[in-house]
Amino acid sequence: MEPPVRRKRYPGTHPRRLEEKYKELRGDPEALARAEARGQTPAGRHRPILLDPILAWLDPQPGQILVDCTLGGGGHAAALAERLAPGRLIALDLDKAELARTMARLEPQELPITAHAMNFAGLPKVLEAEGLRGVDGLLADLGVSSMQLDRPERGFSLKNDGPLDMRLDASRGQPASEWLARQTVEGLAELLMAYGDEPAALPIAEAVVEAFHGKRPPRSTRALAGLVARALGLDPATRQASAFKAHPAARTFQAIRMAVNREPDNLTALLRVLPAHVLPGGRVAFLTFHSGEERLVKAALTEPRWEAITLDLRPSADEVASNPRARSARLQVARRALDAHAATA
Ligand SMILES: C[S@@+](CC[C@H](N)C(=O)[O-])C[C@H]1O[C@@H](n2cnc3c(N)ncnc32)[C@H](O)[C@@H]1O
Repeated sequence: MEPPVRRKRYPGTHPRRLEEKYKELRGDPEALARAEARGQTPAGRHRPILLDPILAWLDPQPGQILVDCTLGGGGHAAALAERLAPGRLIALDLDKAELARTMARLEPQELPITAHAMNFAGLPKVLEAEGLRGVDGLLADLGVSSMQLDRPERGFSLKNDGPLDMRLDASRGQPASEWLARQTVEGLAELLMAYGDEPAALPIAEAVVEAFHGKRPPRSTRALAGLVARALGLDPATRQASAFKAHPAARTFQAIRMAVNREPDNLTALLRVLPAHVLPGGRVAFLTFHSGEERLVKAALTEPRWEAITLDLRPSADEVASNPRARSARLQVARRALDAHAATA
C-alpha cells in the first residue's frame, strides 16, 4: 500500500508572509499598520503618486467641481475632495468592483464624491448626466492600481499566478488569452515596441504567437511570463529580482494590458474632448507611466488652448524608494487658456 502523502510543509518565513498578505488584502488594521511601518504598500492598497505637487497645481478650492478620471484606491480623490465642499469631486473608474470597494472604504469620511463606473473617454456623457457644462479641474492617473496588480485573479500580476485576463472592466471585451490567440508575429512585435518599448519585440512575438497557435497555449500569467523569459534566453522560472528591477516580462505584460483595454484610444478620446469641458483657467493633471502616453498628453497640452505648467515632473528618489511603483511616473499639468479666442477655439 502507498504511504499516505504528507501535506507539503514550507520552511522559513514564506507561509507567514502569505498569511500576512491575505490579512492585508482583507483590510486587517494591524497587518496594514505593520506593512506601512516596514515602508511597504500593504497588499490591496494603492499609494497616490506625486500627491503634493498634484494638490499644489490643481489647487482645489471650496465650491469648485473637479473630476478624477481614475479613482483607483481613492488616494488622490480623497485629498482633492476634502478641499472642495460645498463643491464636489466627480470620480470615474472602469473597474466596477474596485470602484465599489474604494467608495465603501471612503464612506466614513463623508467626502463630497459622486462616483461613476465609466470609461473616462465618455466624460461628456458623465458631465451631461451631472448637468454640468464644464469643470474647474481634472486629474487622470493612468494605468492600473496596486489593488488590481495585487489580485492574481485579475490576471495583471507577474508575481502571483492567475488567469490571462487583464481587463480593467472585467464585464466587457476580450480577456488577454483570447486577444493573444488572434495576433500575428508582425502585429504583436509592433505593439510590443509601441506600448512596451520592448527591444526584443520580435523574438518575444515569435515565441508567443507560436505558443498561442500550438496545442497547449499558455493559460496563466506565470506561463506567459515563463514563455517570455525563455524567448529572452532566460530561465523560465526567472522572478523579479527586486522591487526596483522590473521582471523581464514586465514590458510585454504592460503592452498586452494596454492593447486589451485600448488604453491609448481612451486617452486620445479624453484629450480630444478635454478643451470643451474644462472651464477657462481650469487645470488638468496627467500622470503617465509610458513614453507613448506621455507623448500623447504633451502634444495635447502644448496646443494653444492650454498654458503648460509642467511637462515632465518626476517623483523624487525618496518617493521611488518608498514606493517603487512610482519609478516610471511622469506628471504633466496645464491650465486652460483664459483668452477669448483660445477659450472658444
Ligand atoms: C493608477 S490607478 C489610479 C490610482 C488613484 N489615483 C489612487 O490614488 O488610488 C488607475 C485607475 O484608472 C482606472 N482606469 C484605467 N483606464 C481607465 C479609463 N479609460 N476610464 C476609467 N478608469 C480607468 C483603472 O481601473 C485604475 O483603477
